[in-house]
Amino acid sequence: MSTSTTLPGGTWTLGDSAVSRFGYGAMQLAGPWVVGPPADHDGAIAVLRAAIEAGITHIDTSGAYGPHVTNELIREALHPYPAALLVATKVGADRDAEGGWPTARRPADLRRQVEENLRTLGVEALDLVNMRMGDAQGTRPGSIAEAFETLAGLQQQGLIRRLGVSNVTPEQVAEARTVAPIVCVQNMYNLAHRHDDDLVDALAGDHIAYVPFFPLGGFSPIQSQELSAVAARLDATPMAVALAWLLQRSPNVLLIPGTRSTAHLHENIAGAGLSLSAEDLAELDRIAL
Ligand SMILES: NC(=O)c1ccc[n+]([C@@H]2O[C@H](COP(=O)([O-])OP(=O)(O)OC[C@H]3O[C@@H](n4cnc5c(N)ncnc54)[C@H](OP(=O)(O)O)[C@@H]3O)[C@@H](O)[C@H]2O)c1
Repeated sequence: MSTSTTLPGGTWTLGDSAVSRFGYGAMQLAGPWVVGPPADHDGAIAVLRAAIEAGITHIDTSGAYGPHVTNELIREALHPYPAALLVATKVGADRDAEGGWPTARRPADLRRQVEENLRTLGVEALDLVNMRMGDAQGTRPGSIAEAFETLAGLQQQGLIRRLGVSNVTPEQVAEARTVAPIVCVQNMYNLAHRHDDDLVDALAGDHIAYVPFFPLGGFSPIQSQELSAVAARLDATPMAVALAWLLQRSPNVLLIPGTRSTAHLHENIAGAGLSLSAEDLAELDRIAL
């Protein structure tokens, strides 16, 4: 499988590893509400292989997706992994019988989740592990130190190559960085949710990636008259404008849009290359006011 990239946005160096800024988020490949297997197993495998063939070298997953479903699909589709591929996973939550996401951040929980990710992805060391804080409703204040120290210890044991944090406040980012270096922050952010504007810029100054989750709005696509107006003017889709805006927002922004559809994957790659003018950006800036 080819891993050469002519993807929009070029590359970014995550720690010591260059990845395509246009990546892929695997969460939506699991069943409804991220529980169980996909309805279309072969389609899910095809999307993952198409992502790699298009030159994507950054895939986001978690043991909690399914649980274990997206990791097992990634392994089935792509193992043995191309040398250039970086698979980012996250720990900090389990799944319950109702499909909820109970937090699980004690040292024993985190070690178990890391071991589960190693087993289900079929690797001896995880490329990147994000310590996920908060809950399904968003970030929550509180210390990240104990949890992050546990992950840093597992990194020192050789089980993890790079560390990041997710669903975190700026204070938790700062606290984590006193424990161990991070290569990325993965938080909710898109054209309509720009609470992290200052954090994006601060991280860019320190060469730390910002990886927005729900770049297209997640389970509810971004709906906005301004977005539709700019898209119509450019003869593009709202999805294309939303992705292109993120790539133009800052060089440290990495995309991980999700899709179950190979056609949508190719549409998104083509669309993210759209060039937005100063006038377009000013109009899009009004969405989050
Ligand atoms: N750290 C965290 O707490 C956290 C939380 C949530 C998600 N994440 C990560 O972020 C990634 C991205 O989030 P996400 O996938 O939930 O949301 P998203 O990328 O904002 O949106 C995905 C949705 O957009 C649709 N879509 C994508 N391209 C489309 C197109 N060209 N035309 C029409 N519809 C399109 C998809 O439907 P189709 O399948 O029909 O294309 C899917 O329903 C996840 O995969 C996951 O890895 C992390």
